[in-house]
Amino acid sequence: MSQTLLWGVDWYPEQWEKTLWESDVQRMAAQGFHAVRIMEFAWPILEPKLGTYDFTFFDEVLELLERYNLRAVLGTPTAIMPAWLVDQDPTVLAVHPSRLSRDFGCRRMGCMNAPSYQEAARRLVQAIADHYGNKQVVIGWQIDNEIGHEGSDHCVCDHCRAAWHRWLAERYTTIENLNEKWGTIFWGSTYSRFDQIPLPRQQVATSHNPALLLDYDRFSSDTAVLWAETQVRIIREKALPHQFITTNLYPAPLSQCIDMEDMVRTMDAAGWDNYPVWGNQDESLPYFFTSYVLSYVRGLHPSGTFKVMEEFSGIQGHTQLGHLPPPEQVVLWTNQAIARGANAIFYFRWRTAPFAQEQLCYGIRDTDNVETERERHIIKNMQTLSPVLETFASEPISARVCLVYDRDSSRLIREQPLSLGMEMRPAPYMQVGYDAELARWFAPYVIYNVTGDIKSTRSVTLENYKLISLPLYELTDEAFVIRLTNWVAQGGHLVLGWRSGSRNRDNWNTDRVLPGLFRELAGVQVSSFEALGKGSVRLSLKDSLIHRLISTFIPCKGEVWADIIETDTAQVIARYHDKRKHYSGKPAITCNKFGAGSVWYLGTSPDATTTFFLYKTILKQAGLEPRFLGLGIEEIKRTSHDGNNVRVLLNHTPKKKRIYGRIIPPWGTIVIEGE
Ligand code: GAL
Repeated sequence: MSQTLLWGVDWYPEQWEKTLWESDVQRMAAQGFHAVRIMEFAWPILEPKLGTYDFTFFDEVLELLERYNLRAVLGTPTAIMPAWLVDQDPTVLAVHPSRLSRDFGCRRMGCMNAPSYQEAARRLVQAIADHYGNKQVVIGWQIDNEIGHEGSDHCVCDHCRAAWHRWLAERYTTIENLNEKWGTIFWGSTYSRFDQIPLPRQQVATSHNPALLLDYDRFSSDTAVLWAETQVRIIREKALPHQFITTNLYPAPLSQCIDMEDMVRTMDAAGWDNYPVWGNQDESLPYFFTSYVLSYVRGLHPSGTFKVMEEFSGIQGHTQLGHLPPPEQVVLWTNQAIARGANAIFYFRWRTAPFAQEQLCYGIRDTDNVETERERHIIKNMQTLSPVLETFASEPISARVCLVYDRDSSRLIREQPLSLGMEMRPAPYMQVGYDAELARWFAPYVIYNVTGDIKSTRSVTLENYKLISLPLYELTDEAFVIRLTNWVAQGGHLVLGWRSGSRNRDNWNTDRVLPGLFRELAGVQVSSFEALGKGSVRLSLKDSLIHRLISTFIPCKGEVWADIIETDTAQVIARYHDKRKHYSGKPAITCNKFGAGSVWYLGTSPDATTTFFLYKTILKQAGLEPRFLGLGIEEIKRTSHDGNNVRVLLNHTPKKKRIYGRIIPPWGTIVIEGE
């Protein structure tokens, strides 16, 4: 069964009496779902005793699904572990850098470097693949569950210590080399053997050497990638050709250390869990943030599409709840994900669990099993809009602008956020400042309805784009700067952000005048800077009379950071204009013509008003067509499988809007074909 748009639900038959199963499955089929995701926390059912596998439970589930012509995506249940494994070897439990050790009974509590956990997981996945790999009813696999989430990207147990030392020895070969690269002469932390190197446990005061922290992130990422790849390899050998392999990534893309692009490399597509509101958030994420995340996930894999393995249906949280979105908005988020490249949507979850840690994670239905208003909306949307969504959901998206991120720079910024304005901690184990900043840089593409890609410095093909935005690129790679320089010289337009070029790949401060390797390209020098924290600095935009007039009433501001710029060859676009600042009058934003292209240098993070004015000019200069349809209106252009243009218009506001002569209801979606 090859579906260009797959609709599914996340179902947990093990949490219900069997008497409910058939009516559940019957309703799923009648409502038009194609598939269910099951099994991702079911290890003890599949292996009740060490080495004794029992598939009778899920055989029965699959047989029932097949009877109703439904298909299954199987999750490998390695985000938890059975009690017997911990009995057998208590050292499988991970230790967080905060020194809190994990206990049995939660999830993501295993250390991915613990040999007995690795071995047990390998054997289990092999048994599952042997048993289900040849079943037609299985159409896909989800590896583990949210690898790296809930702080599980970092462990500092003794297994990790040994693996870390091996990883370092392989990377640096000699201890002298490591000492030099890390600058361990500082504070006398010179090592004479690899096994002296500490694990980055949280310290009372003064943190570890940032070079050590950066390497620990790289090491932890390699650990997680290997964990996933091992499972992919086992499944791939047994899987039928129609079965896809993915994993459900979460949380905010760059808020933990795992290189998600690396992780999905051996899979068929990236997968994502889409929760625009979760826990005690008092409002949903801004729509452009969700667009940023969805575009990021789409950019992870060459397939150019992705799967949403968990799509928000009911209000969610573990211990606290917050904002309840209207059911129309729940449906809007589904359509936004599809418009931005998802070709599978699995709603989380079929029905709210009656017990345990996720009693507050509401599903399509509540425990009373009575039809809900959100269910009516979800099903109606699926049934009515699917025929048109299907025409483009699996087609590639073509973009001429791209936001480029750098994995190592994101890791570094998590450890050294630079400014209080980059600090954002929705949970103690999470720091999403880098993502918030990147979303700010993606927002103009969304607001001006210019479809944008998001790619890493490693995978971006510069020639595909007219305009590239590169914020927070601290750990500069000379080869990449040369590529960028050639691309600009031939007509590319580059928007560079503050701190660009400030370090080399080993995290040493550059020995050049800032912005280091970008100085000639940007045509500026950064003489000094300050961090603005949660505050701001006023700007004056020189661009046009209308901008000047409007900005008198709605002031333009810079946030987070302020580079004080001297121009070499660049033209000044905005200056600081703030009585409180000694650098008032100095350039803040510049533009340098370079060959056939141009380089914009943003010495500060523009606020919403500045972004609005500035990017209209930037996009136009790059030969693009910025089209503002009103705040909260998102337009995504797609091409259907028979080559027709399709425009998806999403109204992210509670008000009715008229766009292109058509009415879009509050939180509504319309799809315009063939115009
Ligand atoms: C996801 C997770 C699910 C469930 C859900 C609750 O992050 O993958 O297993 O916990 O959150 O909202």
